[in-house]
Amino acid sequence: MQSITLALAKGRPAKSTIDLLKKAGIQFNDFHEKSRKLVFYNDDQSIKLIFVKALDVPTYVEKGAADIGIVGKDNILESQADVYELLDLKIGKCKFAVAGKKDHISDQGQQLTIATKYPNIAKNHFAKKGQSIETVKLNGSVELAPLIGLADYIVDIVETGSTLKENGLVVIEDIETISTRLIVNKASFATKSAEVQQFINLLKSTLE
Ligand code: PRP
Repeated sequence: MQSITLALAKGRPAKSTIDLLKKAGIQFNDFHEKSRKLVFYNDDQSIKLIFVKALDVPTYVEKGAADIGIVGKDNILESQADVYELLDLKIGKCKFAVAGKKDHISDQGQQLTIATKYPNIAKNHFAKKGQSIETVKLNGSVELAPLIGLADYIVDIVETGSTLKENGLVVIEDIETISTRLIVNKASFATKSAEVQQFINLLKSTLE
């Protein structure tokens, strides 16, 4: 059997994925939440686990630096990476939405300005409706943008809805639901098909 490299997103989603892998019998003994280490191996060294930034997971998988990635659908969509998406882990559930001030009136005939951490997703969403937009790429605290007049609306992740609520914003339109997905490099899917399939089957049966 060949070993496989698995890319996981650092931070919040890592814990639930590591817990799921543990349930499936895949243990990374020296992993702990506060560790700054970026590479881990399981007991029999058949899986090399690497921690990368969430938005980089699809890139690592597309380029073959990782055979498999486990990451949120948001990052898969935004990266536009050419990978196979083979399993929905049904964790990290939330949604993408357009949000703004309830009573906001945008200038008629003017292009809408959308603040977002996800400009590709925002552009694709509005393009589907035949609307071209201007995006303002932000790296966080996106909810501030409509409040201070930096943008008409935001395109962002809504999980509990409390960030919107506490900032006096409302969902204008749902875009799509998001959850953690398993993605596979297209070449690895062919050259390491037994290993990849075994890994997917193990996760599938653990999820059931
Ligand atoms: C995310 C997202 C929203 C918030 C949604 O931000 O961009 O701001 O969580 O969660 P809620 O609906 O449960 O309130 P994150 O916590 O990653 O912080 P950021 O503003 O630094 O991006």
